[in-house]
This record gives sequence, C-alpha cells and structure tokens, in this order.
Amino acid sequence: MTKRIAVLASGRGSNFQAVIEAIAARRIPATCVALITDNPKAYALERARKADIPVIVLDYASFPSREAYESALLAAMQQQKADLFVLAGYMRILGTAIVQAFPRKIVNIHPALLPSFTGLHAQRQAVAYGVKVAGCTVHFVDENLDCGPIILQKCVPVLRDDDEDSLAGRILTEEHTCYPEAIRLFCEDRLEITGRIVRIH
Ligand code: GRF
Repeated sequence: MTKRIAVLASGRGSNFQAVIEAIAARRIPATCVALITDNPKAYALERARKADIPVIVLDYASFPSREAYESALLAAMQQQKADLFVLAGYMRILGTAIVQAFPRKIVNIHPALLPSFTGLHAQRQAVAYGVKVAGCTVHFVDENLDCGPIILQKCVPVLRDDDEDSLAGRILTEEHTCYPEAIRLFCEDRLEITGRIVRIH
C-alpha cells in the first residue's frame, strides 16, 4: 500500500529533496502529499514546486501567538490524512497537542548520534566536545526534544582539522541516505516499536 507522507521544513530542504528523489525512484512506496512550512522564504518551497508537491505556508510571523500558529498547524496536518509526517529541518519544537495527535507518526532527523548533542548546533557541539565519531539519527518524535525512539543512525569520523561546517557536510551526506531509508522502512510497515525500542523486520 502506498503511504501518504507530508513533510515539514523551514529552510533549504536538502533532506526533503533526498526524499523527493527516493520517492521518484520508487525506493519509498509513498506519495508526498504536502510540504508544510513556517517560513515563506524557505528554499524547500522551490523544491516542492519543481516536484509538483502542494505547499502550505503558515508564516509564523503572521500569527498573533504561538498557540494560534500551533492550532493552524494542527489543522493543516489533520487535513493531510497522512500516514507519516517527516520533519526535515523544521526549526520549531512541535507542541504537545500536535505530538499527541500523531503518536508514532512523526519522524525527525538530527545531525548527531543521539542521545548526545541534542538541540541546536549539534555538529558544533560535537567538534567542541572532541568526539571522534559523529553522525545522524532518525527517530520518532515524542514530547521531549530529540528524544523519541531511534529508527536508524549512521556515523562518520570526526577528522583532526574538522570545524563545524566540514563535519556538518560529512554528516549531511549520510543524512541523505539515512532518512529515505528510515522512511522506506516505515512505509513498508517494517518498524515494530516496543517502548522506546524500534525493531526492524
Ligand atoms: C539537517 O542537518 C537536519 O539534520 C537538521 O536540520 C538540517 C536540515 O537541513 N534537522 P536541510 O534543510 O534538510 O538541508
């Protein structure tokens, strides 16, 4: 069965592009039914238009409060009748009402090997800490930041002369295969979740 997925992105959308391409190549048995963004200037919008994916722009700055934005976002998400919501560089923390409305139906990619280096600037945190291995994590979204059950992780070395940008680039290359792969597993109904453990069938 082809799944319906909707993507939330705030910026350049290179992970969104990787998902678009994996769907086009039939590596993911899904249709991307919408791109939802909080940022009318997001480059992800261009990518959606080129791929004929409908866009929903909820300009955060145009809402009187966070609550008003979140309720519009919840309504937009409900309209999609999506099997899965994919956060691809979506730069806001989802409110509890949204997370609870879609249990185990929202995934995120984080540019670190969780549970290390949650939050912003994960690659900068990794360089500053001096770790020798870094990477990315695809996980389900729960009420806590960068904390839900882990689906896949990929690692990369941290090289002696790395700075935040060089490490981020190396991690991003892995993100572009890891995220489509995790979404494929979800869409093929191959993920079994027990507590916070995800088993792949
Ligand atoms: C990626 O590094 C992702 O891990 C993080 O935000 C960044 C988004 O990049 N959540 P892009 O918009 O997909 O290019």
